[in-house]
Amino acid sequence: MSQKTILVTGANGQLGRVLTNSLREIYGEGSVIASDLNFPDDNNDPNSIFLDILNKDRFKETIHDYNITEVYHMAAILSASGEGNPMKTWNVNLNALLDLLEMSKEMEVQKLFFPSTIAVFGQTTPQVNTPQDVPLLPETVYGISKTTGELWCNYYYKRYGLDVRSVRYPGIISYQSMPSGGTTDYAVEIYHEALKNGTYECFLGPETALPMMFIDDAIRATIELMQAPIDSIKTRYSYNLSAMSFTPAQLAESIKTALPDFTINYKPDFRQAIADSWSESIDDTRAREEWGWQPRFDLKKMTEIMLDKLKPKYS
Ligand code: SER
Repeated sequence: MSQKTILVTGANGQLGRVLTNSLREIYGEGSVIASDLNFPDDNNDPNSIFLDILNKDRFKETIHDYNITEVYHMAAILSASGEGNPMKTWNVNLNALLDLLEMSKEMEVQKLFFPSTIAVFGQTTPQVNTPQDVPLLPETVYGISKTTGELWCNYYYKRYGLDVRSVRYPGIISYQSMPSGGTTDYAVEIYHEALKNGTYECFLGPETALPMMFIDDAIRATIELMQAPIDSIKTRYSYNLSAMSFTPAQLAESIKTALPDFTINYKPDFRQAIADSWSESIDDTRAREEWGWQPRFDLKKMTEIMLDKLKPKYS
């Protein structure tokens, strides 16, 4: 009898944390091993382990010792942080993935989830309703590593039959934890600052439209993709994935409907150029057609939930 044992890398990250909990609700506490470089001081989860994915031997031992059959490889350095240390970002985002792909082929890992991103897009990409298949010319090391990662995932599927599945996440908005090191992080910070100080200084300009998604949609997309029948997954590099698209000015307006005194001012920094190189909105027809993707949250609904969930923290 085959038993599923899942490893989540980057399990203490913005997506990893919520994903780990959701996977445990489905498959049971003991079937999901949470790994990361850091956990909160009060962490008492018996199924969490310290794992540096750059330590290849330890990574391999972990997969072997826990009889891992599925990996959600969430560990990564995001766009803004990545520019501070390009070589380390390449090692974490690409070389560790290559190690994992090779180990998966040799060991018992049957299925792998690889998170890609809107950062794979660049100057050669139509920015509005970006289609699934477009020339990719990313400008950040994060984008380069994820684009290359997509190609390697596709290669391992075609050459070795490894069941690798992937989505290009838009910016993710969540209340459970603060994201770090991303260009879309403003869209989380703004809710905290609105409740804490009634004002926010945004590091992107008011008209910078970016594709975004509420955490519940992102987690459901991930799990639905991984649970979809193998024959329906025809795209093995990475699926475009979309829910909503908005500018900082539009997000501020939506917060003002609940907090009329909220103010925002704009002080674009180096992250503006990163955002400008990405898409404004995404065409995710392929994901909808092949495995039935449908988002559930728009800006209005998300703002209501974000403010509701974060309010107790600041009152
Ligand atoms: N949220 C990511 C970032 O801003 C994009 O995938 O880097």
